[in-house]
Amino acid sequence: MILIVDFGSQYTQLIARRVRELNVYCEIHPYNNLPEFNDRIKGVILSGSPCSVREDEAPDIDLQNFNGEIPVLGVCYGAQLIANKNGGFVLPSEIREFGRAKLSSVDTHNELMKEMSINSQVWMSHGDTIAQLPNQFEVIASTPSVEIAAFKVQGQDTYGIQFHPEVTHSVEGKIILRNFVVHICHCSQDWTPDIFVETTVEELKKKLGEEKVILGLSGGVDSSVAAMLIHRAIGKNLHCIFVDNGLLRKNEFHDVLASYRGMGLNVKGVDAKDKFYKALHGVVDPEAKRKAIGKVFIDVFDEEAHNIEGAKWLGQGTIYPDVIESVSVKGPSATIKSHHNVGGLPDYMKLDVVEPLRTLFKDEVRLVGNTLGIDKNILGRHPFPGPGLAIRILSDITPEKISILQEVDHIFIKGLRDRDLYDEVWQAGAMLLPVQSVGVMGDERTYESVVSLRAVSSVDGMTADWSHLPHDFLSDISNEIINKVKGVNRVVYDISSKPPATIEWE
Ligand code: XMP
Repeated sequence: MILIVDFGSQYTQLIARRVRELNVYCEIHPYNNLPEFNDRIKGVILSGSPCSVREDEAPDIDLQNFNGEIPVLGVCYGAQLIANKNGGFVLPSEIREFGRAKLSSVDTHNELMKEMSINSQVWMSHGDTIAQLPNQFEVIASTPSVEIAAFKVQGQDTYGIQFHPEVTHSVEGKIILRNFVVHICHCSQDWTPDIFVETTVEELKKKLGEEKVILGLSGGVDSSVAAMLIHRAIGKNLHCIFVDNGLLRKNEFHDVLASYRGMGLNVKGVDAKDKFYKALHGVVDPEAKRKAIGKVFIDVFDEEAHNIEGAKWLGQGTIYPDVIESVSVKGPSATIKSHHNVGGLPDYMKLDVVEPLRTLFKDEVRLVGNTLGIDKNILGRHPFPGPGLAIRILSDITPEKISILQEVDHIFIKGLRDRDLYDEVWQAGAMLLPVQSVGVMGDERTYESVVSLRAVSSVDGMTADWSHLPHDFLSDISNEIINKVKGVNRVVYDISSKPPATIEWE
């Protein structure tokens, strides 16, 4: 395993992604809460940081623990920290160095730099620079403006690089990470979905024995994959609950429930539509909607869970980015929308939590799902928010509005699938606006609702671009919606990106 020490850089997760792409297992831990050192740790990568090693309160760790014993690679701040602690000089750069640079010299005899090309493009992002190295350090790469772009400590497997090998703009960055992880740390490249499934199922069997687990399915990728893993380990002792909150897409509850049953899951579908509609009656504020939905969900889930006698565990589909977010150096970023659908369970349920996907990134969850043979329809589906259509109906929620929006959404999503555009967008849906507009149908004047279609491309939902869907496709969908959905006489297409807009309208 590779230990990645997080000093708060925006790129720390990317380092982990790149290491995992080499099929090597790694974990990120904040610098101020590191695990005990053990034989499993074959190498350490020190991340970048928004801080400067010259500050009094600069994040720091005791390098003695592994210096000389385990290979260490410092990236940007990590490299400056190694140099600074050993008697080198780190100074503010005369020009702040952000962006592309080219390696003007590189020592390809050095293990870390093997197979790197001269002129290779690298990505710089730093305000400080290493002005002078300690005596026993040697320079192994330079750019025209950064002489000490990479260094090695003589007689030790300790390295530093000033640029960021983890970002794709460092074109050969993967070579450096491979050299470090595979050739210097000697990690075996056996972190594959198959091995993950095999070892996780074994661990779950040991951990859970004959005990019962309850798990709330949402129809999304994470909870479905978590359920299948636990199911492989304990079969019918996994009791799944799938709640119909009445805010899902058209036919979704029945279709997804049938898929789950087809996969052999022991799942109970609970129709709680009326409870959700009642709690949402007259609620307009988006955050109040989320709170109301979260509360009813807990009540319904709790009631169902009580019917499952002797349950000891609560299964959850928590994935690695959620885990890192909750322990990261900077802590969770400011709440723009409260994205929690399940605001935690009441204390008296006192169940232990089992989270088999805690160490996986989203795309790894999909690979694992694929290995488990999960329905492509579930694995490949767009993200859908927990509060569902409630946050796509601007203003108050009524069953009539939900049914209008379900029809509109259905035409849009089916159209995307039929035209092979579904997989090209990251997420798509429709918003029902609190606006009536004048139209004309036949000889009649109409005064009806406006819907906005939204489709975006994104990697993780944090930023997103509006999708440039073909005009003739949008035109066909608009016609179909206005002709088929009673109550809608105007369709608009949202061309805002995130930021500054968000993906959902509420
Ligand atoms: P925004 O609107 O913040 O959405 O750009 C980013 C991603 O998060 C989803 N989203 C939610 N998911 N509960 C969820 O489970 C929520 O309350 C919620 N709000 C937004 C949104 O669909 C998009 O994928």
